Amino acid sequence: MKRREFIRLAAFAAALAATTAFLPGGDAIAQDKKWTIGFSQATTIEPWRAQFNKDIIAEAAKHPEVELIVTDGEDKTEKQVADVENLIRQEVDALLVSPKESAGLTGVVQQAIDAKIPVFVLDRNVETDQYTQFVGGDNKLIGRAAGEYAVELLGGPGKAEGTIVEIWGGMGTQPAHDRHDGFHEFTDKEPGIKHLLDQQSGDWKQDEAYNIMATALRNHEEIDIVYGHNDPMAYGAYLAAKDVGREKDIKFIGIDALPGEGVTWVKNGELTATFLYATPGAEGLRQAIKHLNGEKVEKTITLPTEKVTAENAEAVLKEKGM
Ligand code: FRU
Repeated sequence: MKRREFIRLAAFAAALAATTAFLPGGDAIAQDKKWTIGFSQATTIEPWRAQFNKDIIAEAAKHPEVELIVTDGEDKTEKQVADVENLIRQEVDALLVSPKESAGLTGVVQQAIDAKIPVFVLDRNVETDQYTQFVGGDNKLIGRAAGEYAVELLGGPGKAEGTIVEIWGGMGTQPAHDRHDGFHEFTDKEPGIKHLLDQQSGDWKQDEAYNIMATALRNHEEIDIVYGHNDPMAYGAYLAAKDVGREKDIKFIGIDALPGEGVTWVKNGELTATFLYATPGAEGLRQAIKHLNGEKVEKTITLPTEKVTAENAEAVLKEKGM
């Protein structure tokens, strides 16, 4: 915190243009803030990211000693790298980062580590393990749960039969690879299951998934299951099927289970299942504060998942007060 006041004055004006300073007390650069924590978010255009930001900001509001600076990478690696460089220049006490993609963010995360800033990597990883902590879901486990469920829907182990369209998330992210690998651990054991697409990525986006599915529907008369690596993509595929009157013939599986999205789509019968992928916003910030207060933190915190189907969708919504 040495040159903090000077750096703040100099950096704040520049940073304002590129970042959103969230001040829980509502006061401009309060003097009584003990810790300045920077959070570099990959994007805010996806609903799960918007929830993630809400969660971290709500947690920050519980800690008057913390000034949280949230930046938006706007879904571009170059922008997110610049954001992190900016936070390093501001000498934040801790850096939280949820990378757009692994490889592109590794260098700048290493710069922060070299500058002795404790780094908390959230949700998507980087290609170093020298950070202080990783907080996120177990995507292999979620992929396995989805794969096991798909096999069950197609007739059960040893007897499963049918066709699957898998729509990948961003190819440069570990969650997409883990969600694929986990799923295939189950479906690849079934000789009766046929995968119709080869590594087609919708980059986590509903509209891109819609287009992939529209083509798949033109090319394949029989599609039994769509596995989207997140709910927006599963829903985009559902909409494409609906537009050609085939949505009732297909089961759609997604991941995220946001109450206003995946869980509601399951409740409405549009998706067959979604798997909870909790945002690491609140836990990530709590862990950073714990570390700054001199407590020991674990290297990895794994957030739990849950399967949501027609059976429990309503109960899940009720739990969330909806
Ligand atoms: C949002 C998102 C989520 C997904 C996560 C994976 O950007 O695509 O839908 O679960 O990222 O990192």
